[in-house]
Amino acid sequence: MTKKRRSQNWYGKLDKDGFIHRSWMKNQGFPDHAFDGRPIIGICNTWSELTPCNSGLRDLAEAVKRGVWEAGGFPVEFPVMSLGETQMKPTAMLFRNLLAMDVEESIRAYGIDGVVLLGGCDKTTPGQLMGAASVDLPSIVVSSGPMLNGKWKGKDIGSGTDVWKFSEAVRAGDMTLQDFMAAESGMSRSKGVCMTMGTASTMASLVEAMGMSLPTNAALPAVDARRAALAHLTGKRIVEMVDEGLKPSDILTKEAFENAILANAAVGGSTNAVVHLLALAGRVGVDLSLSDFELGSDIPLLVNCMPSGKYLMEDFCYAGGMPVVMQELAKAGHLRAARTVLGGDINAYADGAECYNDDVIKPFADPVKSAAGLRVLRGNLAPNGAIIKPSAATDRLLEHEGEAFVFENIEDMKANIDRDDLPVTPDTILVLKGVGPKGYPGMPEVGNMPIPAKLVREGVRDMIRISDGRMSGTAYGTVILHVSPESQAGGPLALVKTGDRIRVSASNGKLDLLVDEAELEARCAAWTPDKPHYTRGYAKLYIDTVLQAEHGADLDFLVGKDTRLVTRESH
Ligand code: FES
Ligand code: MG
Repeated sequence: MTKKRRSQNWYGKLDKDGFIHRSWMKNQGFPDHAFDGRPIIGICNTWSELTPCNSGLRDLAEAVKRGVWEAGGFPVEFPVMSLGETQMKPTAMLFRNLLAMDVEESIRAYGIDGVVLLGGCDKTTPGQLMGAASVDLPSIVVSSGPMLNGKWKGKDIGSGTDVWKFSEAVRAGDMTLQDFMAAESGMSRSKGVCMTMGTASTMASLVEAMGMSLPTNAALPAVDARRAALAHLTGKRIVEMVDEGLKPSDILTKEAFENAILANAAVGGSTNAVVHLLALAGRVGVDLSLSDFELGSDIPLLVNCMPSGKYLMEDFCYAGGMPVVMQELAKAGHLRAARTVLGGDINAYADGAECYNDDVIKPFADPVKSAAGLRVLRGNLAPNGAIIKPSAATDRLLEHEGEAFVFENIEDMKANIDRDDLPVTPDTILVLKGVGPKGYPGMPEVGNMPIPAKLVREGVRDMIRISDGRMSGTAYGTVILHVSPESQAGGPLALVKTGDRIRVSASNGKLDLLVDEAELEARCAAWTPDKPHYTRGYAKLYIDTVLQAEHGADLDFLVGKDTRLVTRESH
């Protein structure tokens, strides 16, 4: 006898409630046998025209459905909030936890047995995983896939990364505004996510490294027919996963998170992975802390993609994609044993992988850069931690002491950064306050603030920048991020004044404000937080309950999970 499925608590009842659940679903033309006890698979879709990166997900959902039907399941697609990274103000990150709530409550309230998560753009992948992990039904990811390589004037150009470069070139007088505008159309040539190793491709790569998607999911271009085939196979697989009872909590173990941290170093992944992995770990109850990210510090950069390298995701795909990276990690003895959506061990994803271009995916013994993983910095300026991505930084600045120039908030920075009389030199350390989770709110990607115009004109392209915000996964530079506690929460960052000296040592993991204790205490006594920018609605809830960066900026009451079946009926 087979165990009664979860969905049968909706569709298997021979009473008024069962009548209601089935009858209204039948208005879409589903026959009786769709409700005969077969696995009902939710397809959780973040498709939206306002999330261009996810605009291909409608087609992929159809491919998933074919696979579900083929395996004897019943697919039902449902929308959840979509987060368009490039379109939402003040930042899509403000809404990641709202998407996670939407996903969690939708899965819990509906009569489904398993879920296929269709996401791609930066915050959609973590938001969906967090929500799904908190209900813990069998779940599997199909990502949007990257856009085709950007092309302009015969050259490859990368999402985000070349926007930052071109924008600086215009400010330096090295590029005309006309050329700048013309590059716009060449950068985004197809559906899909940023084709640099930005946050979207980073998260897709880590999802694959954690075994939450089928192999090759991360790099196949959005418009490659093989992605639709992968979606079809994923639809087949989720039906089997429901029968096997294979849940996110079986897959997302400490070892899986460690594999993600190692993979993040090897692919030159986004700093944003830190907050997303920490938040996800909080949902599944894995004890992951900022210090665990040290694990990646000595891992070399293997994937030669922007922003840390020169190629793009299409090249990464054709070179062999994530299976090759995992094989390199496995050969070097780094890949941890962990289960995957296929039921077996993650090593199966690496077995038999072949590298077709060893300039795009370098071998462990001859990497793009050695010791490329993120570094965690601590000290009296960041008692609860901060991070830096050395692979995208200037080596000279990784050990540096300099004078701070402080911007009190984003408006201050925008109004003054290009002043001709700004008292800064290439050795100045730029400090930006008020861009943390509570402060902005939502911890936006503004930590890579522009280089002051007067220095850009002198040819300066990098400086140390410190903030409580994040930066885009497509960005680069010697940028110290996620300083915790944030300034709005009264962290020491709030006390920094222009002219103070700051010492940075990436090799020692240190970030110190060289101001004596008595002076800091006096400043602290005189400090008051800014008035919050929002006083109602979700944003108020967010400001009041958001955790600091080292806890993944989740809302405090969302940590953990609730896997109970809802038994009360609506009528
Ligand atoms: Fe959506 Fe980059 S903006 S993936
Ligand atoms: Mg982003």
